[in-house]
Amino acid sequence: MLNARHAIYVYKALCEQQQVATKMTFEQIATLYSDYANRAVSTELHPNDVMYNTGPSHYFNVGKSGVQAILTGLSLSWRSQVMTVLDLPCGHGRVGRHLRQLFPNAELFYCDIDAEGADFCARAFGGKAIHSKADLLQVDLPKKLDMIWVGSLFTHVDKRRTDAWLHYLADHLSDHGVLVATFHGYFTGKNTKFHGGVDEARVRREFETTGFGYSRYTTLAGVEDYGLSLSKPSAVLDIADTIPGVRASYIERGWANNHDVLVINKNDRLATLG
Ligand SMILES: C[S@@+](CC[C@H](N)C(=O)[O-])C[C@H]1O[C@@H](n2cnc3c(N)ncnc32)[C@H](O)[C@@H]1O
Repeated sequence: MLNARHAIYVYKALCEQQQVATKMTFEQIATLYSDYANRAVSTELHPNDVMYNTGPSHYFNVGKSGVQAILTGLSLSWRSQVMTVLDLPCGHGRVGRHLRQLFPNAELFYCDIDAEGADFCARAFGGKAIHSKADLLQVDLPKKLDMIWVGSLFTHVDKRRTDAWLHYLADHLSDHGVLVATFHGYFTGKNTKFHGGVDEARVRREFETTGFGYSRYTTLAGVEDYGLSLSKPSAVLDIADTIPGVRASYIERGWANNHDVLVINKNDRLATLG
């Protein structure tokens, strides 16, 4: 005889078979979070991890906040389980180390243009390294990803690349897969210190006039077209609006009470009811 738990399991298996969307319940999200909180996050650090310059407390809290943003994104989606995850750009694992504890059985891909960072994350947290390129469109990424976390990449490139790369990444999501990406919105714009030779006046002017401002770092050696961007929620959602077959949501200051967060779920906004 079936008990309630078996019945839910059988129902979910049938839904998967028939490609019917079952939302992850709040109870399931809460379980993912409490299981994560009960596991120890790796404290292994890479000596070149510049993100750690803020000190251990901020570093680990920002990582944990990444988990909260990801689970918020999942709660807005129709994905019922997460088995493949891309962390792009992974840096030296400020969030990536938490992803391993959040999704202990998932296949994790750690991608960064800094090959040393990607290799470190893959080895230290258990995953595969992907060495990125200046143009993300030239990088061969795995298909059918259930979760793509983009912590602070679009915050450093212009609108043209943001648009093209968001389309490219959305194309790599599985059915109902979720992309959670961060942006410098109003709050960061008010509080961030412009450095690295960025033309602050230009970024602010473009932010006001077009909703998306960008200027290159000019004093950092070895970087090409990489700098600082500020974007309004409306400008980011306008881009998301042009991605076919998805639904978009936006959370202001959703990461570390600082960066804004865009959530894209691969579930057609025009799908029929029922
Ligand atoms: C602000 S850091 C964020 C790193 C990490 N997500 C974190 O929260 O610590 C930005 C990262 O973007 C990486 N990056 C820059 N351009 C990239 C590209 N085209 N593809 C992949 N990673 C890139 C840099 O190497 C750097 O690690």
